[in-house]
Amino acid sequence: MVTIEALSFGYRADEPIIDGLDAAFAPGEVWAVTGPSGRGKSTLLYLVGLLLTPWAGRIGLGGVGAANALSDHERSRLRGAHIGFVFQDAVLDPARSVLDNVTEPALYAGMARPEARRRAGDLLERFGVRLRADHRPGEVSGGQAQRVALCRALLTAPSLLLADEPTGNLDADSAGIVIDALTAAAHADGATVLIASHDERIVAACDRVLAL
Ligand SMILES: Nc1ncnc2c1ncn2[C@@H]1O[C@H](COP(=O)(O)OP(=O)(O)OP(=O)(O)O)[C@@H](O)[C@H]1O
Ligand SMILES: [Mg+2]
Repeated sequence: MVTIEALSFGYRADEPIIDGLDAAFAPGEVWAVTGPSGRGKSTLLYLVGLLLTPWAGRIGLGGVGAANALSDHERSRLRGAHIGFVFQDAVLDPARSVLDNVTEPALYAGMARPEARRRAGDLLERFGVRLRADHRPGEVSGGQAQRVALCRALLTAPSLLLADEPTGNLDADSAGIVIDALTAAAHADGATVLIASHDERIVAACDRVLAL
C-alpha cells in the first residue's frame, strides 16, 4: 500500500506544485496520474519514488509510515528493493550496453548476474527489442529506448511501478504492448502501478484516475 498524507512540494520557496495532497494506492491497482503539462505529474512520481524530498507531509510505502523521512541510504535501499521507475525521457547510460542498462538496478538489488541477464533477454524479446549484446543506447530509436527503460523497471518485479509517459514515443502496437505489461504488473503480479500520462488509451486501461 502506498499512502500520501498532506504532501506539499515545490521547486521554489514561494511556488508549491503539490499542495496538501492526500491519496492512497493499493496493491493490484493501476492509476493514471493526469493533468495538463507542467501541473506536477512527473514531480509527484519523483516524490512517491523517493527521489525528491517533500516540504511537508508523509509518504508511506509498505510497512514504512514515513519513507520520505528515512536517510538517503535507506531510501536508496527501498528504491532498489521495491520500486521500478520508467522515466519520461527514458534515461539510459550511454556508456554501457543496452543489456547492462537493463540489468543494472537488478544487480544493485542483489540479483545474480546470470539470472539478471537471462530475465533481461526475455523481457527485451517480449517487448520486441532484440539487440546485439553490445548495442548502445545511442544506437536505438526513442521508442526502443522507452521499451528498454520499461524492461529495466520490470526486471526486479517491483511492488511499486512508476511510469512517466511510457507511451510518449510509441506507435499504437508498441503502446498496446507497454500498456498490457503495466496493467499485468498490477493485475497478475499485485504491484501498485502509477502512470503519468495524457494518453487516452492509457487512461482508459487504468483502474483509477488521480487528476492533478
Ligand atoms: N528541476 C526543476 N526545477 C524547477 N522547476 C521545475 C523542475 N522540474 C519541473 N519544474 C516545474 O515544476 C512544474 C511541474 O513540472 P512537472 O515536470 O512535474 O510537470 P508535468 O505535469 O509532468 O508536465 P508534462 O506533462 O509536461 O510532463 C512545472 O511548472 C515545471 O516547470
Ligand atoms: Mg512530466
